[in-house]
Amino acid sequence: MKVLAINGSPKMDKGNTALILNPFLEGMREAGAEVEILYTKKLKINPCQGCFNCWFKTPGQCFQKDDMESVREKYRDADIVVYATPLYVDGMTGPLKNLLDRLVPGAQPFIQVKDGHSRHVPREGFQYGRKVVLVSNCGFWEMDNFEPLVHHMKALAANMGREFAGALLRPCGPVLGLGAVFGIKRPVDDIFEAAREAGRQLIREGKMSEETLKIVSRELMPREEYINNANRIFQQMLSAVTKK
Ligand SMILES: Cc1cc2nc3c(=O)[nH]c(=O)nc-3n(C[C@H](O)[C@H](O)[C@H](O)COP(=O)(O)O)c2cc1C
Repeated sequence: MKVLAINGSPKMDKGNTALILNPFLEGMREAGAEVEILYTKKLKINPCQGCFNCWFKTPGQCFQKDDMESVREKYRDADIVVYATPLYVDGMTGPLKNLLDRLVPGAQPFIQVKDGHSRHVPREGFQYGRKVVLVSNCGFWEMDNFEPLVHHMKALAANMGREFAGALLRPCGPVLGLGAVFGIKRPVDDIFEAAREAGRQLIREGKMSEETLKIVSRELMPREEYINNANRIFQQMLSAVTKK
């Protein structure tokens, strides 16, 4: 089984997104999947120019010659696509959105009704029945911060004829890398292990259990404590700058 993971964090492997994404991918590898990871920061992907040349002038081909050509091939071959992104202004990062827009050559202009909804007819190779997974983390405490992004991911999976297989969501993401500084008392190893287990489940059973995904998102500390600790750290950072 081929897995294509796309990490849209500018922090790449050093970011909080990677702290959840990497064990998830390791779990998939342990279960026998062939996993490839791409970082949008390393790719040259220009924004879509909206010219529709890829539909009417050179069907299936974008006139922009950049890294999107190889990404499109990898996307076409993948059984599972994992989109990983920190929450940026309630959504995905800009470079990841640019990449998604540039998948438009995979569709034909013709419209059909599929499962009660208007959809473009997919081009050969961009067929239905494959899976999409979302991995995200955010700075705020509440799980509902992810709602717009999850909604978007579900919509685009349906739009591209893929099954939305679930999401690994981590609020208070910065705590993962700054544990002691943030004053957490309980280790977070269970969260990383749950991410790994979710990867194994997806490959072996074709789905991830709700129970496992809940551990990935579990509360790290009460909201008031989180906000107080975060504000204390921000104040220290600002004081260090003004002292210089
Ligand atoms: C431009 C920008 C926008 C952000 N917007 C949100 C947001 O809307 N909600 C939120 O909870 N966190 C937001 N954050 C915080 C990030 O999601 C958080 O720092 C995350 O841990 C970064 O992940 P990374 O280390 O993988 O890049 C934002 C951060 C940046 C830089």
